[in-house]
Amino acid sequence: TERTFVMVKPDGVQRGLIGEIVSRFEERGLKMVAGKFMQIDEDLAHEHYGEHEGKPFFEGLVDFITSGPVFAMVWEGQDATRQVRKMMGQTDPAESAPGTIRGDFGLDLGRNVIHGSDHEDEGANEREIDLFFDEEELVDYERIDETWLYE
Ligand code: GTP
Ligand code: MG
Repeated sequence: TERTFVMVKPDGVQRGLIGEIVSRFEERGLKMVAGKFMQIDEDLAHEHYGEHEGKPFFEGLVDFITSGPVFAMVWEGQDATRQVRKMMGQTDPAESAPGTIRGDFGLDLGRNVIHGSDHEDEGANEREIDLFFDEEELVDYERIDETWLYE
């Protein structure tokens, strides 16, 4: 089992999509182990998106992610990082299949509703969890349906 970092971005919050997005992960069988509604400041934005520093869209990305509250979460489950990315769709909502979160709720690359740790970047999930949450904010518990979700 694995933990991954997921965040409803400011556009998703403003558009009232927190509940819808949380529902999709819950129904899939993933388990929420942390969640907080928060405002990202400039420093955290730079750290979180450090890999994109210097790219032409970087300043716009930082402005956007700090433009309003986000809902940050940690989800746990089998292969969680990759499964969340699959449910999100492609980076560009225009290229994302219907049925994915970005494919159902977005049209524009710079307003793609959700962030999830990159499964191709080894350790990104743990790094991002550490960046956004203190250890004591992660809750260890069992979901009642766990024995029915896993063989
Ligand atoms: P995140 O979950 O937000 O990290 O998205 P991602 O992992 O699917 O994409 P990536 O990390 O490559 O890019 C981070 C964010 O920058 C994306 O979610 C986009 O909103 C934005 N972005 C990426 N590439 C471009 C681009 O070429 N132009 C613009 N305007 N924005 C971009
Ligand atoms: Mg990324």
